[in-house]
Amino acid sequence: MANKLSYNDRNRLITRYGRWALVTGASSGIGKEICKQLAESTFNLIIVGRNEKHLQNLQSELLAKYNVDVEIVIADLSQEEEVHQLIKKTSQKQIGLAVLSAGYGTSGSFIDNPLSDELNMLDVNCKALTILAHHFGNRFSNNMTGGLVLLGSLVSFQGVPYAAHYAATKAYVLSLGEALHHELKPHGVDVLTACPGPVASGFGSRADMKMDGAMRPEDIAVPILKSLGKKSVILPGLLTKILTYALRTVPRWGKVLIMKKVMTDMTKHQKSVRLVNTLAK
Ligand SMILES: NC(=O)c1ccc[n+]([C@@H]2O[C@H](COP(=O)([O-])OP(=O)(O)OC[C@H]3O[C@@H](n4cnc5c(N)ncnc54)[C@H](OP(=O)(O)O)[C@@H]3O)[C@@H](O)[C@H]2O)c1
Repeated sequence: MANKLSYNDRNRLITRYGRWALVTGASSGIGKEICKQLAESTFNLIIVGRNEKHLQNLQSELLAKYNVDVEIVIADLSQEEEVHQLIKKTSQKQIGLAVLSAGYGTSGSFIDNPLSDELNMLDVNCKALTILAHHFGNRFSNNMTGGLVLLGSLVSFQGVPYAAHYAATKAYVLSLGEALHHELKPHGVDVLTACPGPVASGFGSRADMKMDGAMRPEDIAVPILKSLGKKSVILPGLLTKILTYALRTVPRWGKVLIMKKVMTDMTKHQKSVRLVNTLAK
C-alpha cells in the first residue's frame, strides 16, 4: 500500500477534522509519522512529548516543508497533573482531531519487573489516554464533530506471556475504543482504534524487544488516517494482516501459547532462559 495519503484522503481529513490536530507521542515513531501526514494535509499541529529536542526537530522540519503552524507542548503523561496542564494549555485551540499515540511497553517476567515501572506504563498507556479521551470526547461531542485515534496493538487481542502487562494495557485501549466508537457516533465524533503488529520505532529498544522484520511507521500511519471515520478498529499494515490471518482459526488459549513462544524469542527473557540452559549444561 502506498505510504502517502491521496489528495482525496487529505481533503477529506482536513474538511472533516481541520484545522488543528493534537498528537501525543509526536516525538518518535508512529505519532511522528502521523504528524508528517497531517501537516501535508495542511493541519496545524500541537505536538506532545517529553523529548524537547526531538519535538523541535520535527517542528523545524514541518515548518520548512509545509505552510502550517506547529506548537510544542512538553508533558510527561505519566504525571496526571501534566495531563491536565496539557488540556488547559490547549483549551483555546480549535482542535478537531486528537491522536493518542504516546505509549510504551515493558517485557520480561511480570513478577520480576519493578512494580513502579509497570504502574508508570499503566499511567501513560491507560490513565493519561482515558483522561484525554474523556476530555476530547466531550469537547468534540459539544461541537458535534471530531476524530479520536487510539493506539492499541496486535497484542490487544489475547494475553501475552512476558509482555503480560503491556498487552493488558493495550486490551484496555481496544475495549475502550471499540465501545466509544458507538457511544460517540451519534454525537458526530469518529473514534478509531489502530492495532498494529511490530513497527520499527523507539518502541523496541524501550521495551527491550527484538523487532526483526518490523514494518515502518509510514506503513502504519497512512492506513490509520485513511480509516478514520470509516472503521472502528483497524489492523494497519500488511504484516499485521498476515499475522492476524495466520492465527484466525486458532482459539484464544492457543494464541496465548503462540504469543508466549513469540515473546520468548523477542525479549530478554529468552536471554535469561539461554543463560540458565547454558549454566545447567
Ligand atoms: N512499535 C510497535 O511495534 C507498536 C506496535 C503496536 C502498538 N504500538 C503502540 O504505538 C504507540 C506509539 O509507539 P511507537 O512505536 O511510535 O513507539 P516510540 O517510537 O517509542 O514512540 C513512543 C512515543 O510515546 C511517547 N511517550 C512515551 N512515554 C511518555 C510519557 N511518559 N509522556 C509523554 N509521552 C510519552 C514518546 O515521547 P517522549 O519520549 O518524547 O516522551 C514517543 O513519542 C504506542 O502506544 C505503542 O504502544 C507500537
